[in-house]
Amino acid sequence: DTIYLADYQPPAYLVDDVHLTFHLHPTKTHVISRIAFRKNPDVQDGRFELHGEELTLLWARIDGQDWKPFVTDGILTASAPTEAFIWEAEVEINPSANTALEGLYMSGGMYCTQCEAEGFRRITYYPDRPDVMAKFTVRIESGQPATLSNGQKISGDGPHPVLLSNGNATGAGEGWAEWHDPWPKPAYLFALVAGDLVAHSDTFTTRSGRDVDLNIWVRPGADEAKCAFGMQALKKSMTWDEQVYGREYDLDLFNIVAVDDFNAGAMENKGLNIFNASAVLASSETATDTDFERIEGIIAHEYFHNWTGNRITCRDWFQLCLKEGLTVFRDQQFTSDIRSQAVKRIDDAIVLRAYQFREDNGPLAHPVRPESFVEINNFYTATVYEKGAEVIGMLKLLVGDDAYTKALDLYFTRHDGDAATIENWLQVFTDTTGRDLSQFKKWYAQAGTPRLTVRDEYVDGIYHLHLQQATPATPEQNVKEPLLIPVAIGLLDENGAEVLPTTVLELTEAEQTFTFDGLASKPIPSILRNFSAPVIVTHDKTNTERAFLLAHDTDPFNRWDAGRMLAQDVLMLMVRYDATPDAAFLDGLAAVLRDDTLDPAFRALVLRLPSEEDTAQALFDDGDTPDPTMINRAHETLKLHIAQHLQDTLPRIYADMAVTGPYTPDAEPAGKRALGNAALALISKLDGGKQATLQFANADNMTQQLAALRALLQISKGQDALAAFEAQWQHDRLVMDKWFALQVSLAAPEAAADTAQRLTEHPAFDIKNPNRFRSVFGALKGNTAGFHQSSGTAYALLADWLIKLDKLNPQTTARMTASFETWQRYDTDRQGKMRAALTRIAQTPGLSRDTKEMVTRILG
Ligand code: ARG
Ligand code: ZN
Repeated sequence: DTIYLADYQPPAYLVDDVHLTFHLHPTKTHVISRIAFRKNPDVQDGRFELHGEELTLLWARIDGQDWKPFVTDGILTASAPTEAFIWEAEVEINPSANTALEGLYMSGGMYCTQCEAEGFRRITYYPDRPDVMAKFTVRIESGQPATLSNGQKISGDGPHPVLLSNGNATGAGEGWAEWHDPWPKPAYLFALVAGDLVAHSDTFTTRSGRDVDLNIWVRPGADEAKCAFGMQALKKSMTWDEQVYGREYDLDLFNIVAVDDFNAGAMENKGLNIFNASAVLASSETATDTDFERIEGIIAHEYFHNWTGNRITCRDWFQLCLKEGLTVFRDQQFTSDIRSQAVKRIDDAIVLRAYQFREDNGPLAHPVRPESFVEINNFYTATVYEKGAEVIGMLKLLVGDDAYTKALDLYFTRHDGDAATIENWLQVFTDTTGRDLSQFKKWYAQAGTPRLTVRDEYVDGIYHLHLQQATPATPEQNVKEPLLIPVAIGLLDENGAEVLPTTVLELTEAEQTFTFDGLASKPIPSILRNFSAPVIVTHDKTNTERAFLLAHDTDPFNRWDAGRMLAQDVLMLMVRYDATPDAAFLDGLAAVLRDDTLDPAFRALVLRLPSEEDTAQALFDDGDTPDPTMINRAHETLKLHIAQHLQDTLPRIYADMAVTGPYTPDAEPAGKRALGNAALALISKLDGGKQATLQFANADNMTQQLAALRALLQISKGQDALAAFEAQWQHDRLVMDKWFALQVSLAAPEAAADTAQRLTEHPAFDIKNPNRFRSVFGALKGNTAGFHQSSGTAYALLADWLIKLDKLNPQTTARMTASFETWQRYDTDRQGKMRAALTRIAQTPGLSRDTKEMVTRILG
């Protein structure tokens, strides 16, 4: 049951209007639909087909006549009588039993929905495909008292269920509410929420004068104090999209709801965004600086989808990157604009290299626009999202900022209301710039991370830069063609002065030479500035050259990256030859650390070592079989060396970075805390945890508290703090997720699996809550040396739990099978144990389609 992009057929029937009535009941919710269908004039003959899963059909009518449709394998067919007709049906569904968290389900006593990608078919029979767009009118009956979205109560005391759907509220009474969404939308953007909720409210006036009511809905209690930051982020996003993209909001109401049980981060349902509580709720006591920045970015992301996703949606799910790549790119621009450009670019590169490069270089590699899938939920990946965003960044770099703006304006006017394709997207660039983008388009079709090899020489006053590109084979794609790669470079002289400012070279061939004359001596090249393309650069630089760039590069990204490559090199030498760390590296680090002219956030990034996972990949790429235990040892040793080397500087940095006054999550104090806490982690290696114990005791915000706890756990002195933390936070689920995760990710390698196992027996462990499940098992996988203990215990434990989870929640299970995606990197013994774990999952009777597809692809 593989679905192919090449097989796309437009829908035989279109929908103009949908009326839905919900009679809510925890186990027996009834959904009555009334849908006006009409034949698609562009399709000759095609069948009338509706999707439906886990539905009990009570009755169906066509044009008022009782109808007995034929249902098989989730598809309902009926011979449609006329060109246009009214379909009516009533189905029963069971939200309480819905642990898959797709369709209508219950979380913490409230009703909520998740319809992307294909969850709407678990609500009623419908053409559940994004190219069918309709206007929705929704009536919700709860049989209980209600509160209007503006806070007006319809009844007296007692519970006040809030009844929400997309669009504008058109009426409400005791126990019911009606909603109308004037914007045609695909079913995946449908949403419904009902529960005892309270709103944190505000308003926003768009630049053309529309007053918009804004609400963040939470359950009464502690969460009410965690909405203010999200609201500010929403208003900033609305302003930014007006200023930068000229995009205004288009309804009188914008609702956000926080939900505890959610598979993803958040969802952009029209006018009713539903968020994983972890992606919206924050207070200084409970959320770290990193959480605040992440929340700000996700709120922006979902808000930006209103134009890139909702007003212009995708024709089919193969085009997912059309909305996700673009929306990620937009949220990255937003964060970059309101925080630090350099820091954001480095953060994004770290994530891209860690997750997308890993995906692109393993059995799960697929193009930004895949050509086939079994289960679309398995393609909400780093490649579609993050590489999809990189492709847009490259396009912008190639055409220039002004042309990008023109092209986007054309995209919005030409395709407003459309279900569009990547071809449509590229066409607006061709039409506005006249550029032939056929080679560039290969970025969407060709999987794998290109390797860029750099060689240079200086002959007779002319500097030659030889660039070579090659992309390794990926599953089902053996032959790779050259891509159009924008390579931003700069040239420095031996004093660090720029002799060529940032220049974008367009590499189009497998091999190309670029020449530069008028240079007095051989320059030092700075290649792929600002990470101008998602490629791996191989350039045989000496550590002296890297140290030079770490000290002098005028491009902050490459300055950081030089330090990163140095660190990686040092680590690899330590793993391979038990070498002592290179002095050039330690001195370079010290110089950056002491340079008070540099942004503390940037210095913190330079101080952060590559992860053990990164080192494993680097060794593998260099032809070695990585040994996770040795890698862990090298990392620990290097940290100790750094701590000793910087012994005199660290206390001064720690003291300088102290932030006084009330906590704010702004970039500046957050940067100081990041550097201060990087220093604290190193100080703790030498002072036995004295400073960290003090910070833990005095912390008045989660950033400081958690950093202290982490520093203590890293030196195996965190037991008391851990117990105190639990006593303090046991009532707060989001904080407890951190408590679970930290213990597993910082457990000594030989204790990681046992720690995870023990935590599953904790009364607060809940297999049905994806955040909690991930806090234990995501952390287990993240403890590289612990996950890969040669005993194989961690592999087996994860497999056991994924098998259990699959029966409840296929989507989260499938996603987490990717923990095994690097199996081919390791020795035969580990490979055998990982394959055994995967095979055991694969052979589980009744395995979900989601998980089956993933394990099959991983096993190859
Ligand atoms: N569209 C959502 C977002 O990126 C994510 C939905 C995730 N859905 C899924 N089936 N994995 O904002
Ligand atoms: Zn998105």
